[in-house]
Amino acid sequence: MKVIIIGGGIGGPLLALALQQRNIDCTIFEARSQDALDGGFVALAPNALRVLERVGVYDRIAKQGWNYEEFQMLSSRNLNQIAAVLNGSQKKYGYKALRISRGIVRQTLLEVLRERDIQLRYNSKCINIEETDRSTVVATFADGHTEEADFLVGADGIHSRIRNYLEPNAIPKFSGQMGIGGSLERSKLPSSSQSMYMPCLILGKLNSFMLMPCTYTGDRVGCFATVESHDRSREEWSKLQTDRPALYKALQCHHQDEHWPDVVHAASKNIDESSLMLWPFYKVPELTSWMSRTGRVILIGDAAHAMPPTGGQGAAQAHEDAITLADTLASLANKEVAHLEVLRKWESTRQERVKKILAFTSKGGDMRKSSVSTFRQILKEWTMWAYFLWLGPDAGLSWIYDHDTKRDVV
Ligand SMILES: Cc1cc2nc3c(=O)[nH]c(=O)nc-3n(C[C@H](O)[C@H](O)[C@H](O)COP(=O)(O)OP(=O)(O)OC[C@H]3O[C@@H](n4cnc5c(N)ncnc54)[C@H](O)[C@@H]3O)c2cc1C
Ligand SMILES: *[C@@H]1O[C@H](CO)[C@@H](O)[C@H](O)[C@H]1NC(C)=O
Repeated sequence: MKVIIIGGGIGGPLLALALQQRNIDCTIFEARSQDALDGGFVALAPNALRVLERVGVYDRIAKQGWNYEEFQMLSSRNLNQIAAVLNGSQKKYGYKALRISRGIVRQTLLEVLRERDIQLRYNSKCINIEETDRSTVVATFADGHTEEADFLVGADGIHSRIRNYLEPNAIPKFSGQMGIGGSLERSKLPSSSQSMYMPCLILGKLNSFMLMPCTYTGDRVGCFATVESHDRSREEWSKLQTDRPALYKALQCHHQDEHWPDVVHAASKNIDESSLMLWPFYKVPELTSWMSRTGRVILIGDAAHAMPPTGGQGAAQAHEDAITLADTLASLANKEVAHLEVLRKWESTRQERVKKILAFTSKGGDMRKSSVSTFRQILKEWTMWAYFLWLGPDAGLSWIYDHDTKRDVV
């Protein structure tokens, strides 16, 4: 069995590592060049870390980011705690959560691919795919060369070309919110805030501000404002993305219309300009299927279900897709079974889980939406306080973090 993977972001390399462990031959094709870098940070919850452990990568990254369990939500009025929830727990889930540079995660995956002799071809933009009557798929790349395999997996991200082949009308939709953030040395925060508990999400009247250590020692702190915004074209977003002074200004404006604690002002002011990132939250509409009718073309990760970050599960779901698909393809290689049926089972199990995760993610987005008055803000804080108190410290999240991908295979 031979598999072609389109996209060498996060999901593609993970799938390749998992396929090789199961003795399935694969090659990754990535549009970008070898030295393209990824900015920003991700928080990896236990369900993502469990997958990284299964492909033998967890130990390499665990000490390159901030390991934490509790995540606190605070009021912008007085920094009083509204709620505390567990995003990870050594005892409960086997892993703490890990806040880490996206670049480190991807570079580590690429390093392991090289060590295990898995081919990744850079500067290989897939521009067309075609299913043949020999039960294969042929991919054509921008430089004109073609590749043929039994399966083609689109792990090509939110603006996926492979998804476009399957469902041309599924255009990602803007959620009305965007994130602006970056990082700074912790020592650049006011001395009174140096010992403040992090990670925390400070909830204001109009928007929210997150503070999260992002290195192993916690000497660097990432911060991230979630603000409401109008939609822009892809060109306009990328132009704004590279306009650091504009991003810097937008981050300062985030808290000009209401009272915010000093730590928010200091973090925004002292942020390293070179670390500034913009992240408009888009959502891929629910697809009827993640596969072609023959089951030879399959989508995973953001290509299938990009979601806003408010549930902290975007990358984690790409992890789960990758490992469960590898298990599923391996079950096909070993037996003479009806491949379409087995793949459909995989698809429906994954779709069901992602649907639940999406519902949880929207709840997180609503929580960060603006309140019109201080009274409304206080009311929201009390409602949240009561809600999380009722849920208890695991905040009803164990179905997300405890998930065992091994059980997803037939
Ligand atoms: C700033 C930022 C912060 C984020 N923070 C978080 C977070 O805290 N938590 C979280 O869970 N998620 C976070 N995410 C989302 C997370 O990065 C994605 O969910 C995750 O990377 C999805 O992996 P993927 O492999 O599906 O797609 P990607 O990582 O986007 O990879 C897709 C790859 O495909 C390549 N490609 C595209 N088209 C083609 C083509 N035609 N041919 C060949 N290759 C192609 C691209 O160059 C890219 O390398 C963040 C994203 C951003 C942008
Ligand atoms: C931590 O939990 C909160 C509350 O449920 C959630 O909004 C946030 O996205 C979680 N973060 C991670 C990284 O899991």
